[in-house]
Amino acid sequence: MNPKIDCWEDYVRVSEFALHSPDLFWDAVGRRQLQWHKYWDLVSDCDYRTARVNWYTGAELNVSENCLDRQIQAGRGDKKALIWIGNHLGEERTLTFSELHGEVCRMSNALDNLGVKKGDRVAIYLPNIPELAISILACARIGAIHSVIFGGFSASSIRNRVLDCGARLIVTANGNYRGTKWIDLKGQVDEAMAMGCPSVERVIVLNRHPSHSYIRKSYDLPWEEWMAASVSVDHTAPSHSALDPLFILYTSGSTGVPKGVLHQMGGYLTYASYSNEIVFQPREEDVFWCTADIGWITGHTYVLYGPLSNGVTTVLYEGVPTYPDPGRFWEIVDRHQVSIFYSAPTAIRILAAAGDSFVQKHSRKSLRTLGTVGEPINPEAWNWYRDVVGEKRVSVVDTWWQTETGGILIAPLAGISSVKPGSASFPLPGIDIQILDDQGNLVQGESPGTLVVGRSWPGQMVGVYGDPKRFFETYFTQFPGYYGTGDGARRDREGFYWVIGRTDDVIKISGHRLGTAEIEAACMTHPSVAEAAAVGVPDVLTGEALHIFFVLKNEVLLLEQSVEQVERIGRELVQVVRKQVGALASPRKLQGVPGLPKTRSGKIVRRILKKMAQGEYEDLGDRTTLADSAVIEQMVMVLKKRTSQK
Ligand code: WT7
Repeated sequence: MNPKIDCWEDYVRVSEFALHSPDLFWDAVGRRQLQWHKYWDLVSDCDYRTARVNWYTGAELNVSENCLDRQIQAGRGDKKALIWIGNHLGEERTLTFSELHGEVCRMSNALDNLGVKKGDRVAIYLPNIPELAISILACARIGAIHSVIFGGFSASSIRNRVLDCGARLIVTANGNYRGTKWIDLKGQVDEAMAMGCPSVERVIVLNRHPSHSYIRKSYDLPWEEWMAASVSVDHTAPSHSALDPLFILYTSGSTGVPKGVLHQMGGYLTYASYSNEIVFQPREEDVFWCTADIGWITGHTYVLYGPLSNGVTTVLYEGVPTYPDPGRFWEIVDRHQVSIFYSAPTAIRILAAAGDSFVQKHSRKSLRTLGTVGEPINPEAWNWYRDVVGEKRVSVVDTWWQTETGGILIAPLAGISSVKPGSASFPLPGIDIQILDDQGNLVQGESPGTLVVGRSWPGQMVGVYGDPKRFFETYFTQFPGYYGTGDGARRDREGFYWVIGRTDDVIKISGHRLGTAEIEAACMTHPSVAEAAAVGVPDVLTGEALHIFFVLKNEVLLLEQSVEQVERIGRELVQVVRKQVGALASPRKLQGVPGLPKTRSGKIVRRILKKMAQGEYEDLGDRTTLADSAVIEQMVMVLKKRTSQK
């Protein structure tokens, strides 16, 4: 069985085979994609009824060796591995596979020198710069578990993550620019440390912008000093078990604090490599650019692990799509002859709104494939992407997946599958996507419902770090025997999948995933606020925008609050949320209300609030589940009054 796919007939044949003989299929994929020190005793050891997910049990490999040493052995030593482009014009650095290998080995030695051991957790709070890639690959090499924290998260969020995983080390930089905005990374880390991070022994600080000084703390170790002490660029990659944890990445869920999504070395890398190859169909001379920040799963899998494990040149960009102008992406595409470009609907919509001239200034003739991920893409944006950016001659791949899935599960295969604008099309071979109705029954053919997966695949997360119960309850209890994705979807008559969006309390702002629970918890730390409800409302650019309803405490209300005072509290709440969660959680609108619609069990009915947030007060849908439906009239009265006063 050869899992390679060159045409539609291959896709059909391989999918059939994978459906009937999954272990034989994933055995062939594992052998094809990676280099192993030892093959497995068991391809898969998975049981959704007990939340057990293990791939390639008994096997041994080194992830970093697969991305570097193996590529050098294959003759790619002088090939570009990483093309880095800084935020400011002209800032660039290219590393060949040999050079990247050297840097990673140096850092592996430096980690050894610090006493960082296999299984230790290392938190990395760095911008999209080569040192982030180097840190990740060095951790993977020695077997330390990396946990990258996106630069948009605040001190409190850093601390929560560091506490949860018990990181011994934080690797950061003094700060970086995104567009014209300076992000004070070190300041956030210091604040987190001041709040108490008892597991952290050292903070490594890279001087990303020497012109910005930072206060050196007793726990700091400047990157430059650290590296100077470990000059050796030789490091033999040790063998790790396929089941050893590779990384933890925190993501938001319906309830509570973000959870640490845990991925294992063997299965994850196999799937990163497989999905990168099969969806994007890269060629040896290709330049692959995924615009994501490495702080998100997209960056882990398709900026680093996927392309590098396939020996493909990857682009790492530190900046934003619109700086210094909305033509930046295409200028980079031309200069580096990017052939595969992978971005997000929000970025595409922002660039489309800026006007075609920024695109047309650049040639873009190197582009062959355009990808999108993170949220549903509307057909207008899809068409603009293909027709204006891709001049109708490219393949567009709308890829559906999640932090939990490790890699793409549903997507067209570039140049092979037929496509429909707005649909992620079909599951990859080996992926058993199904739709269930409200009662949890499997439905066939054309139908809307909940998107689930019937059988494990190697990229699947293996646990919630430190909380096996949460892993089981979040993903495997609602529909026993299936992995529940949390997404609603529709399958059309021709079998195309259309992912509609989350059916739980997760919202997506510019493709960034946030839990309403964490935002509400942040609001409630404000001394005047009794309750809060966060909802996502549709937005033409960001997909969803954050809207917050808050209820003031009785004692505050007794003071006869004026509209101005309520609005002031609203403004304070914006700061509270930004401080507790991060700048990416900026609320678009806040409204003070006398109460919130709740079910008898006390659950906030966001369906109704979503309508109110969009100015819909009449047709609010079913109210029979509400504990007290009079609250609706009171809310509507206040909201209407406020609107008319403005
Ligand atoms: C959620 C996962 C994994 C990449 C980045 C997001 C939504 C993702 C699509 C798509 C419609 C999509 C889903 C999913 N989503 N891609 N192509 N079409 N929706 O990872 O932050 O874990 O979010 O993003 O709702 O559940 P994430």
